[in-house]
Amino acid sequence: MSRKALIAANWKMYKTPAEAKAFIEAFLPLVAGHTRDEIAIFPSPVLLPTVIAAAKGSNVLIGAQNIHFAAEGAYTGETSIGQLKAVGGTHTLIGHSERRQYFAETDEIVNKKLHAALENGLIPVVCVGEQLADREAGKTADVLKTQIDGALAGITAEAAGPIVIAYEPVWAIGTGKTATPEIAEDTHKIIRAEVAKLLGPTVAANIRILYGGSVKPASASALLGQEDIDGALVGGASLKPDSFSQIVKY
Ligand code: PGA
Repeated sequence: MSRKALIAANWKMYKTPAEAKAFIEAFLPLVAGHTRDEIAIFPSPVLLPTVIAAAKGSNVLIGAQNIHFAAEGAYTGETSIGQLKAVGGTHTLIGHSERRQYFAETDEIVNKKLHAALENGLIPVVCVGEQLADREAGKTADVLKTQIDGALAGITAEAAGPIVIAYEPVWAIGTGKTATPEIAEDTHKIIRAEVAKLLGPTVAANIRILYGGSVKPASASALLGQEDIDGALVGGASLKPDSFSQIVKY
């Protein structure tokens, strides 16, 4: 299987521009020449110009944690895709569970953002994941299928090439509770099968499905060694150059 892994840092609402610049300066030498995997960092919007300038010409890609689906308009507090691209951002997270939980982001909004990202040439990382109560009630597959069907509504196989999916069980995010590699692999298989149902076997075979939720240097290689795990979306352990570079080099 020729899927190139993507190891991505979700910095959430952390770091000042000075801290972000210091991170990049320390991090780039640690991953210099690393071409086995793609590396991406998702900082807060206010950090983007600093981080993009610091990472220019390197093997580190930069994206936003969120974008609005409208081209422009009276949407106080939001960032447009045009604004992101104008400062040099190439990727965006969509539908992170914290956006869904604290900012009322629905599958319908996720779908609109995904359409807008693809139409404008951004690489979207669409996040899905079940709550602990869903898993305990045996509803994981149903919840994920609903999220994936919602996110991918109206997307054609031809347009789907750039899409990356991140599976992030909500009970594993920021809790120190990583899904076991077996649980994660089983769930990634469910996601890939749903993508196959919607977009066909070729898209499903090529789409990258990242795992996220308390990934640490010590847990990365077992997770990333699974057949259907094609990378990681890392929060807490991505904030220090050392630990994130160790995950990159799992
Ligand atoms: P975590 O966050 O690694 O701190 O659990 C992952 C995420 O929310 O993307």
